[in-house]
Amino acid sequence: MLTLKENFYRLLHPKIVFLLTSVGSDGKHNVMSCAWATPASEEPPKIIVCVSKEHYTAELILQTKEFAINIPTKEMVKAIWICGSKSGRDVDKFKEANLTKTKASKISAPLIKECIGFIECKVTEVIDVGECYAFVADVVESMVDERYFKKSVWIDNTIPMHLGGKKIVYFVS
Ligand SMILES: Cc1cc2nc3c(=O)[nH]c(=O)nc-3n(C[C@H](O)[C@H](O)[C@H](O)COP(=O)(O)O)c2cc1C
Repeated sequence: MLTLKENFYRLLHPKIVFLLTSVGSDGKHNVMSCAWATPASEEPPKIIVCVSKEHYTAELILQTKEFAINIPTKEMVKAIWICGSKSGRDVDKFKEANLTKTKASKISAPLIKECIGFIECKVTEVIDVGECYAFVADVVESMVDERYFKKSVWIDNTIPMHLGGKKIVYFVS
């Protein structure tokens, strides 16, 4: 058996990669690529997302306690890379990645029009877990484009998955 030291978490990949949108108390929007998330409860509906304390996204979520998960298609890999390698502190990633903002229904963080699944969340608890904050949140709305999601399952070869690290993205086939 091989002992894993630093990258133990890769045993839990591939994971769906999504675009995490947020808003600051000054109304500024941001988007980052994210894979470390899990459903945490069905009743009440809860989710946990882990974000590095250093990321601009963490700063914004701490301010407004809101975020949205936007699930991209495989055609959006370039946007995923831009949103996962640059900081909203330095650039407007919506512009750089050609992403169109739309209004969410229950939160003020934006949604991304090009995406095909959405979960709107309100943070109820922030847990300090070392390099990351774990944002525990209520799911206040969730929607999907039913062309890509049949009988509660993503259809094959639609959504990108993340193997771990910053470069490896592949698709369910
Ligand atoms: C595929 C992919 C998945 C990522 N997953 C996470 C994650 O789960 N948590 C995290 O904190 N950063 C993750 N990152 C890194 C952030 O997206 C990246 O550092 C980003 O530039 C932070 O942006 P911000 O400063 O605008 O918030 C991921 C990057 C990529 C490319």
